[in-house]
Amino acid sequence: MAEIETRPETEHPLILAFLCDWCSYEGADAAGRARIDVCEDLRIVRLPCTGRVEPRFVLEAFASGAGGVLILGCRPGECHFREGNFNALRLSVFLKPLLSQLGVAPQRFRIDWVSAKDGQRFAQIVDDMAAILRRLERVPAW
Ligand code: FES
Repeated sequence: MAEIETRPETEHPLILAFLCDWCSYEGADAAGRARIDVCEDLRIVRLPCTGRVEPRFVLEAFASGAGGVLILGCRPGECHFREGNFNALRLSVFLKPLLSQLGVAPQRFRIDWVSAKDGQRFAQIVDDMAAILRRLERVPAW
């Protein structure tokens, strides 16, 4: 996994988003095509399916300085690998209490669904996370 860039203390924390190739990445693309403003603190990791996200990806993201982590996949029933998004959902159920035990505010991690055409929803989820991080700005992720 690529390292997260280091940013000056004065800038907002980065949001790392794991996007599946089939729906949520296309949703991000739809936001771009529609010229919807998306928070510039976003960095994207494109995966074939959210079912490929491993717990260590999320833990490494926070350990490397990400302020927030998103896993965005196809809507339930629409995963191109049938159950990948449900596997990601199970992962999130496992990760949330672990992150909390490690001192990471649970609001810093979110799993959600974005269809290929829903650029507006993609932008809203990212903006919601950015707003949460601004509220938590003075509290380090670790
Ligand atoms: Fe999109 Fe599986 S292909 S979540």
